[in-house]
Amino acid sequence: MSEISTQPARVRTLEEYHAAYQQSVADPDAFWGAAAEAFTWRRKWDTVRGGQFSPEGQSTWYEGARLNITENCLDRHLEQRANKLAIIFEPNDTKTRHLRLTYRELYTQVCQFANVLKKNGVQKGDRVVLYMPMIPQLALAVLACARIGAVHGVIFAGFSATAIADRINDAEAAFVLTADGLNRGAKQIPVKSVVDEALEQCPSVRRVIVVEHTSWPVQMKPGRDVWYHDEVKDVEKECPAEEMAAEDPLFILYTSGSTGKPKGVVHTQAGYMVWADYTFRNVFQVEENDVYWCTADIGWVTGHTYGLYGPLLAGSTTLLFEGVPTFPSPGRFWEVIDKHNVTIFYTAPTAIRSLMATPLDNVLSYSLSSLRILGSVGEPINEEAWHWYDQHVGKGRCPIVDTWWQTETGGIMISAMAGITPSVPARAGLPLPGVQPVLLNQDGSEIEGNNQEGYLAIKGSWPGIIRTTWGDHERARQTYFQPYPGYYFTGDGARRDENGLYRIIGRVDDVINVSGHRFGTAEIENAINESEFVIESAVVGYPHDVKGQGIYAYVICQNGVPTTDIDIQRAEASIIEAVVAQIGRIAKPDKIQLVSGLPKTRSGKIMRRILRKVAEGETSNLGDVTTLLDPLVVDEIVAGKK
Ligand code: WTA
Repeated sequence: MSEISTQPARVRTLEEYHAAYQQSVADPDAFWGAAAEAFTWRRKWDTVRGGQFSPEGQSTWYEGARLNITENCLDRHLEQRANKLAIIFEPNDTKTRHLRLTYRELYTQVCQFANVLKKNGVQKGDRVVLYMPMIPQLALAVLACARIGAVHGVIFAGFSATAIADRINDAEAAFVLTADGLNRGAKQIPVKSVVDEALEQCPSVRRVIVVEHTSWPVQMKPGRDVWYHDEVKDVEKECPAEEMAAEDPLFILYTSGSTGKPKGVVHTQAGYMVWADYTFRNVFQVEENDVYWCTADIGWVTGHTYGLYGPLLAGSTTLLFEGVPTFPSPGRFWEVIDKHNVTIFYTAPTAIRSLMATPLDNVLSYSLSSLRILGSVGEPINEEAWHWYDQHVGKGRCPIVDTWWQTETGGIMISAMAGITPSVPARAGLPLPGVQPVLLNQDGSEIEGNNQEGYLAIKGSWPGIIRTTWGDHERARQTYFQPYPGYYFTGDGARRDENGLYRIIGRVDDVINVSGHRFGTAEIENAINESEFVIESAVVGYPHDVKGQGIYAYVICQNGVPTTDIDIQRAEASIIEAVVAQIGRIAKPDKIQLVSGLPKTRSGKIMRRILRKVAEGETSNLGDVTTLLDPLVVDEIVAGKK
């Protein structure tokens, strides 16, 4: 144990994995106590684990400890790694020069940003909403919030003004950080004006700090809006880190669930830190000289844990990329890898599939010889994509880690550790130490043995578990902890194969995973129903070659099914516009079918099973439709399938 206490916990062989796993289950307090030793603590914990895990859903980790996560991301590295690169920034536009920040530079710039926040009245515990491009200032802003104990709530800069307003109001945020504009591939988004529109509905916001990025003209509201470059001019280059309690909130990240409104998943200081660090170093088997690139935007949880916190906690070099895989050409990812000698590359299956669909030369013309480990996240990776990734990107010599986890889990739960535990196509693999997955029957009983399928749940707590949903603990309790008392319920279905490796099948609730982004069907339906043409709608997912799942919307219009092309187009345009306005372009339906009715039971419940089958094209096997109020509506839906 004393050996582990000065070194961060790290598994290097299969035997060590099994030993670590056994210990993590047999004596979690000893295991996670040892894993936490290497950090900088202002005060150590009184207890490692606490709370009433389930059905109350109140986990605590490292209660009694006091710390600041940025001291562990920054200050702690200054002695050994001051001149090591912390961040490499690769801009959207290939003609713009990239930027590099050493740990020393990052430290100073985070301190300055933190001082700007303080100067503008941000205090410990305040919620700060960030709606920014994927630029270094976003990383600085996140860390600056954490430095002074403010709770950051990053919103992916693709959500609409209405979606931003909902989140700001839910979080009761008084501060917003944004930029003038954003370039993402060929797209341009005037982020400041989107924020302006949102703020018309947000009385709580007192101050907006704007980072200059594109130099597009923006409106600055006097008394509310300030430019970052003005504010930073005369601030100190040091900012003492606020001492936080282990269970103080670190961030809120909104994510979709089965019900209409996205919920604010809350993670706290100490447990999240230990989990981000442990999972990052172990899954990717990170070494000192790695150049690590996670392509996820910081607006998603993957960007939080594996774009920013995980790598910085480990003292690694992390690459931030502003652009998209296909701009200016579908070789961009590979060009960036060669340019910066990326050694570990972590992306989503949807990106792989979109690149697979382009000529192979786009990848074959790059060397990719620096790569040593590949990762996948966000959705199941199909075998074809796995093999393409392995063969053409990894050249058959890079272990692939297919990492299963969720916004709520804080970090990776089930995954190979690169080169150590088994990596099999279409399997996430074995659980990480500390994670006890189970497969449940509908009645909540555990399914024993291999070659079995069921609802995926997790027994017992782990350091990165969701603590609550912001402002509404009951919602978290009901969603995750009450369905199967004694377990955290994931909402996914899974299969345990003959070797005990887990294969994630997909969501078993009303959540659709589009290009690795989660949307609730109810959330999209609510948006569609805002259109003046619409009476009612039902949304389901269907298999999509590139996105994994596409969004299929069945919609009943005011005056029945429109008959002329022009009326159809008008209705469809209005439906799309409603979704874009309520949620954002990323939730746009892929297919819209205008129908005269929906298949409902006599009690008025929509039979989604039938809608799903039609959307999947499985119309020959719709099952029993005799319990429907109006079975004829099914014939109409089948006949009109898109
Ligand atoms: C899905 C993203 C299969 C799953 C980190 C989960 C996956 C949801 C995988 C969480 C994977 C994530 N294999 N499915 N490797 N990773 N998922 O909250 O359905 O955006 O419940 O977190 O994505 O999505 P979230």
